[in-house]
Amino acid sequence: MKASIYIETLGCQMNVADSERASTKLREAGYELVGSSESADVVIFNTCSVRARASQKVFNRIGEVRKARNGNEPTIGVMGCVAQLEGSALFDHSSSINLVVGTTATDRLPSLIESARESQRQIIDVGGRVDGELWKVSNVERHSPYVAFVPIIEGCNKFCSYCIVPFSRGREQSRVATEILDEVRSLREDGYKEVHLIGQNVNSYRPLTSAGLEGFSGTTPFSKLLRAVAATGMNRIKFTTSFPRDFHPDIVAAIEENKNLCNWVHLPAQSGSDRVLRAMRRGYKREDYLRRVDAIKSSRRRIALTSDIIIGFPGETSEEFEETISLVAQCQYDGLYIFKYSERPGTPASGLADNVSNREKSSRFSTLEIFQKNLQGVIYKSYIGREVNVLVEGESAKSNSDMTGHSTCHKVINFPGDMTMVGQEVSVTITEAKANSLYGVIKKN
Ligand code: SAH
Ligand code: SF4
Ligand code: F3S
Repeated sequence: MKASIYIETLGCQMNVADSERASTKLREAGYELVGSSESADVVIFNTCSVRARASQKVFNRIGEVRKARNGNEPTIGVMGCVAQLEGSALFDHSSSINLVVGTTATDRLPSLIESARESQRQIIDVGGRVDGELWKVSNVERHSPYVAFVPIIEGCNKFCSYCIVPFSRGREQSRVATEILDEVRSLREDGYKEVHLIGQNVNSYRPLTSAGLEGFSGTTPFSKLLRAVAATGMNRIKFTTSFPRDFHPDIVAAIEENKNLCNWVHLPAQSGSDRVLRAMRRGYKREDYLRRVDAIKSSRRRIALTSDIIIGFPGETSEEFEETISLVAQCQYDGLYIFKYSERPGTPASGLADNVSNREKSSRFSTLEIFQKNLQGVIYKSYIGREVNVLVEGESAKSNSDMTGHSTCHKVINFPGDMTMVGQEVSVTITEAKANSLYGVIKKN
């Protein structure tokens, strides 16, 4: 009997997808995958390094697991972005770590675990993908039986000055479209209702060959891919994240042409100030960003728009912060993720003084949070009386007589219902707006 393994996933959707891929390989190799760290022989953390606090988390979790295991120590592995960046330094950092597996070594996990357990030595692999290693995920490992993450591009070439991702994930590598389309078709046959095409920057999609995209129109490979995925007949198709500089209006055209391309775009602005955007090396100005937003907002379909903002970038003045506030006012976001700038070692911005005080960061954070909450309140209220299409995903956490799911515009929708509805698409008429969700009733036919 092979060892039992528990994988805990921290970080973004790419990590969720990577854990699904790793689990597929491990089960194929005969390992048993379990849902908790309580008695697993091997505990693996799939880690995130995007901000200091995220990258600290793995050490806290290792401590908690060891304490709970009370001497019955599992083999402990670290995979993902912290593993790629820290490499063998992780062994010095924590003597309980036995195994370090980088972001592109996922497929070799089974043999690495075997070596770590047999040799009792510290094992590390931070090497790249090997020819012939393909994206393969078995449906039993997916995070949901109805919604699937389908990576279309890994890595990042943008090198924004504050960001660690190009270092932890390497250069952009796009999957060939035929492979993506086969995966979506087979998900559809297996009853999946929604796919999320994922990548650090999905719209930078640039496969080595155009195989699979022949016959599809589009000004960029990504908009061709959108049309090709739409043609598979998958019920709902979402994609994230879009990089503003590469956001071509043809993406909006593709959404308008295909009902199954969902009406939601996540387009992180990061800042509203040209000086800060330049220092961030984002490659666009406020006006360029607003032009993209205009194309989205003036679509025939109402396309929901969400964004990320970093506050307190080195040297950000209160006037520059005000420019971010005014950008947020102009964009009328359906949702906003706000982050305090966090210095990442080795990035270009780490050479700049992190000189916005913590107090000031907290104050700007809550100012922007309240500002967005008010704007969002008005947007959410405008949904009252309207009908939205919802994929029912499960019981609501708050009440067991309510079900929950996401609309095509990616809002959380709750409504009275029961478990027989799970996995179905329903029409919900919105009756009430909460801060981050909508409430409604199923429309009777
Ligand atoms: N590729 C996407 C972002 C991926 S990282 C894009 O360029 O839009 C997710 C978010 O984390 C970023 O949008 C940014 O807002 C935030 N982030 C990244 N590095 C950060 C840092 N050093 N400090 C604070 N927030 C950061
Ligand atoms: Fe990081 Fe910029 Fe790449 Fe996004 S585009 S992952 S923020 S370097
Ligand atoms: Fe974090 Fe790595 Fe994703 S740093 S955000 S897990 S790509």
